[in-house]
Amino acid sequence: MAFGFFKKLFGGGTDYAVGVDIGTTSIKMAELSRENGVTRLVNYGTLDTLEYLERDNGAIQANSLKLFEQETIRYVKTLADRAGIRTRRAVASLPAFAAFSTVIDIPPIPENEIVQALQFKARQYIPLPISSVSLDFVRIGEQKVLLLAIPNDTIAKYKAIFKGAGFDLVALETEGVSLARALTLGDEEGAGPALVIDIGARSTAISVAERGLLFLAGQTDFAGASLTHGVASSLGIAVRRAEDLKRERGLVSVGFGADQELSTLLFPLVDVILDEAKRLRERYSAAYGTDAKRVILSGGGANLPGLQDYVHKRFDLPVSKAAPYARVSYPLPSESVLVPLGPTLAVAVGAAERGFEEA
Ligand SMILES: Nc1ncnc2c1ncn2[C@@H]1O[C@H](COP(=O)(O)OP(=O)(O)OP(=O)(O)O)[C@@H](O)[C@H]1O
Ligand SMILES: [Mg+2]
Repeated sequence: MAFGFFKKLFGGGTDYAVGVDIGTTSIKMAELSRENGVTRLVNYGTLDTLEYLERDNGAIQANSLKLFEQETIRYVKTLADRAGIRTRRAVASLPAFAAFSTVIDIPPIPENEIVQALQFKARQYIPLPISSVSLDFVRIGEQKVLLLAIPNDTIAKYKAIFKGAGFDLVALETEGVSLARALTLGDEEGAGPALVIDIGARSTAISVAERGLLFLAGQTDFAGASLTHGVASSLGIAVRRAEDLKRERGLVSVGFGADQELSTLLFPLVDVILDEAKRLRERYSAAYGTDAKRVILSGGGANLPGLQDYVHKRFDLPVSKAAPYARVSYPLPSESVLVPLGPTLAVAVGAAERGFEEA
């Protein structure tokens, strides 16, 4: 308390927080500093393991949420070392499939009664014993909240991992919440709700967000790895080769033969992901009586060549790639590196920003 007082008094002092995104195939970290209201990206890093392509249990985070604790602790430490992360204050982001979320209508009650009302209502909506989950909520309007439930054992695993890696875990949130903060809190007036599609390796997280708030979240197990495996089996080539082809050419057909074959093959696979996004867009319209105004592509899969154009055609909305830097500055020479990394770092940047709210 006294320390904070002095910091304010002299206007000095810098706060730091690191956001950590433990994905299926990689870990991402973004360390932010905040000084006199200015937020800077001071360190960042990603640690990839392409092993998931060859053996299923190579994934850091299996969909069954089997976090391999010791291994993950090692990865987190290694990445923090390599990236030169200085702070121990960490905020972690949980994959969408690890949490349960639903929109609930509530009567017009005072803020302090919401928690109690939600505890009661949650029983109707959450397919897990209430005693085994932790509840969180985002108030979206007078009479609507987004209820989030995270299994307690997932929380315990994350606490153990961060403790093991020498970090002080100050907050844990779902990736949709981190993305909403990173990608829409700096929204320009009238930007409108964004349909955020985060295509990871094992899962695609889909959400609608506006002005930093998450309105609706969903996910599908169909994602980047599904595209790679689809290409490998259809073309009868090795998974690694299929991964390279996908990244190099994607949906862009530049000629005949193999190129055209690849894009022809990828479209229906990408459609599986986009159909799911379309369903979420419809659910959002039904729940809130208004439509998404734009699409933001995030996650490694956002880099699929030709995807931006294709999504634009399918949704008839402006489409952009995640750029989590609206409120975060960085040294100008880093721009050519950081802009392409936007879709990869978005979750980690959003999580780190949360670190300052917890101060
Ligand atoms: N240039 C590219 N074109 C197409 N796909 C790409 C490209 N670069 C990366 N990817 C894909 O992005 C995926 C990894 O993305 P990301 O790092 O967001 O996943 P993750 O967070 O580890 O996984 P998840 O979110 O499912 O837990 C892989 O499937 C990879 O093939
Ligand atoms: Mg991810």
